[in-house]
Amino acid sequence: MRKNSYLDYKAIITDLVMKVNEDADLDRETIYGLLEYPPDPNLGDLALPCFKLSKKWRKAPHLIAEELQGKIGPSPYFSEVKATGPYLNFRFAPVPLTREVLGQILDCGEEYGARTFGEGQKIVIDYSSPNIAKPFHVGHLSSTVIGNSLAKIYRFLGYECVGINHLGDWGTQFGKLITAYKKWGSEAEVKKGLINELMRLYVKFHTEAEKDPSLEDEAREWFRKIEAGDEEALALWQWFKEISLEEFQRVYDLLEITFQSQAGESFYNDKIGAVVEELKAKGLLTESEGAAVVNLDAYGMPPCLILKKDGSSLYATRDIAAALYRKKTYGFVKALYVTGMAQSLHFQQWFKVVELMGYEWAKDLVHIPFGLVSLKGEKLSTRKGRVVLLEELLTTAIQKTLEIINEKNPGLANKEEVARSVGVGAVVFGALSVNRIKDVTFSWEEALNFEGETGPYLQYTHARASSIIRKAGFDYEADLAFDPEKLDDPAALKVIKTLYLFPEKVMTAAAEYEPSIISRYLIDLAQDFNGFYHECQVLVDDRKLQQARLILVAAVKTVLATGLGLLGIKAPEQM
Ligand code: ARG
Repeated sequence: MRKNSYLDYKAIITDLVMKVNEDADLDRETIYGLLEYPPDPNLGDLALPCFKLSKKWRKAPHLIAEELQGKIGPSPYFSEVKATGPYLNFRFAPVPLTREVLGQILDCGEEYGARTFGEGQKIVIDYSSPNIAKPFHVGHLSSTVIGNSLAKIYRFLGYECVGINHLGDWGTQFGKLITAYKKWGSEAEVKKGLINELMRLYVKFHTEAEKDPSLEDEAREWFRKIEAGDEEALALWQWFKEISLEEFQRVYDLLEITFQSQAGESFYNDKIGAVVEELKAKGLLTESEGAAVVNLDAYGMPPCLILKKDGSSLYATRDIAAALYRKKTYGFVKALYVTGMAQSLHFQQWFKVVELMGYEWAKDLVHIPFGLVSLKGEKLSTRKGRVVLLEELLTTAIQKTLEIINEKNPGLANKEEVARSVGVGAVVFGALSVNRIKDVTFSWEEALNFEGETGPYLQYTHARASSIIRKAGFDYEADLAFDPEKLDDPAALKVIKTLYLFPEKVMTAAAEYEPSIISRYLIDLAQDFNGFYHECQVLVDDRKLQQARLILVAAVKTVLATGLGLLGIKAPEQM
């Protein structure tokens, strides 16, 4: 296994340029960073744009490109190095490309693309974090699957990731719920209806409170009791929490997601006092209409609320306490918070407060926002009660997938299990397929289209590659020698170039906290592979040709499985 040392054309080109360059203060990072993949592959496989160097060297970019072309000369890695206007274009020589990329993939298996540089460093990822006594709805889907994928991506780079489910298990909504329960609920009904009954009560509270605002006071009083440790209030709170956790667990089981910590907001109750004291001691707290706040005028933000008039803590207070606790407990190099974009200001505010407290690690707190998820154009909201539950979405997906399998491949072994992997994969991919900041509209027809840009399409391509390998009796343990010259079809080379990109894509996905970079990449890979499969027969009489093509199929299968794994999606062998 050769983790870390993947073929890197950008590094090779950087070496070449550094060797011929006469400018003493030109550094490697600059050259490396300038290199880009030309949008039109006819121009070349990689290009060095010379505009930036032009300023430095006081020479026109096209002259620099020409000059570098003359100086660099031939290299075994490039079949062509050519100046085209202000660009110096490089074309990969096919044989070393094929030999090294496929060799590395066979060598590393599902570790191809993995790195070790994160070793010994911890990243805390706060994600999913649904609210107790509210349903686990589709809006929490993005946080759950983005966070899960980021944890997998960072682990792949060697980091230790601590996944934290920062459950919303504290706050005035529990006062509302107890009020509603006392007025319109019963033990029997809650036992029967579970989370649906809790939700009914929560919704009822809001419709009733619109008519009778005194209910809000009652709710506040109940929450005050919870905070004061009142026995009855605490028992009800605990009970509602257990009901919710059971429901959430069913969703996590379907997604096969586990957290390293489930410390929710209530976990920080006994840590709030110290935070408030510290803020006071550091002269950061001011009073505003009876409440305690940190003024953020100087930073163009509204004040960060720390304590309410009645002395109870707020969402931000608990987040600050949690951050201090996590830094102390885990010593993270980075703490990520995956939530909807609507919470951006909240995070900016309390990150600033931590900075003002004098903690230099405030810079390591990162909010990772995402857009809205909607189903058939409807925004999902709890208050109105019009929500689609995540569990329902997942089980429907599994059911629909099973129907498709029964129609297309009724003899398939482990049908139920495959339907589960594919149905869940369709939903997960749906949430990870576009740039996370974009709003996502989930539609069944799209998500379950085996030929569209979907999870099932990737899984299907993986199963297709697996089946070719099975049929050929290809043996991963056997002699994996192959003749790279055999893979000279344009369609094969296209696949190999895409395979080459995988390690770099993983790095970019991590740097940008953007799993969709991997989703997009996998779609490209699957499309390139299906193009190759269409053009080139794999099982042929020429043994050497067959061996080389099988190696390519095996490499694609491996990278598809790895990539899907990083998204939190399974890759069944058969579909
Ligand atoms: N429970 C919150 C919600 O559903 C998300 C919590 C995110 N994490 C955090 N540390 N604030 O909106």
